[in-house]
Amino acid sequence: MGKLCNCSRDLLANQDREIQKLFRSYSPGEKEALIPILQETQGIYGYLPKPILYITSEYLKIPVGKIYGVATFYNQFRLQPVGKYLVQVCAGTACHVRGGDLVLQALESELGIKSGQTTQDGLYTLSTVACLGACSMAPVVTVGGDFHGRLQPKDIVKILREYEIKE
Ligand code: FES
Repeated sequence: MGKLCNCSRDLLANQDREIQKLFRSYSPGEKEALIPILQETQGIYGYLPKPILYITSEYLKIPVGKIYGVATFYNQFRLQPVGKYLVQVCAGTACHVRGGDLVLQALESELGIKSGQTTQDGLYTLSTVACLGACSMAPVVTVGGDFHGRLQPKDIVKILREYEIKE
């Protein structure tokens, strides 16, 4: 590992081994490592914790504001922890024309959150995504990776109950 200021070294020393190993695989100041570091960090935590963004800033010599800019520009990155079940609502064309927006509204209403938010109990994170690749089943929603297709808004309560019963 290259030179780091004391505060970053201390912060890094307090992180999981996986994160320490991740930083060891890149050189300090290696700016092109930003996206891979963010991707791998999210792979470890499921989102991008603030302390890691500061360590990344120090390590790669990139202003933290710029790192936030990158993290918010790409849909793949999350700045908040994800709920146990990630609910993805397809916003692709086929789903949109078959009422995907009404399905999203039903989910928002039932969960009491907007897209991009997590329920207070940490059970669900709601998000909208581009085509999920199952257009023939439009409109489509995935819950924890399970596909649910040909949905109508009235189906949402029943689907969510299936996951809540498992808890
Ligand atoms: S547009 Fe929704 S699955 Fe393709």
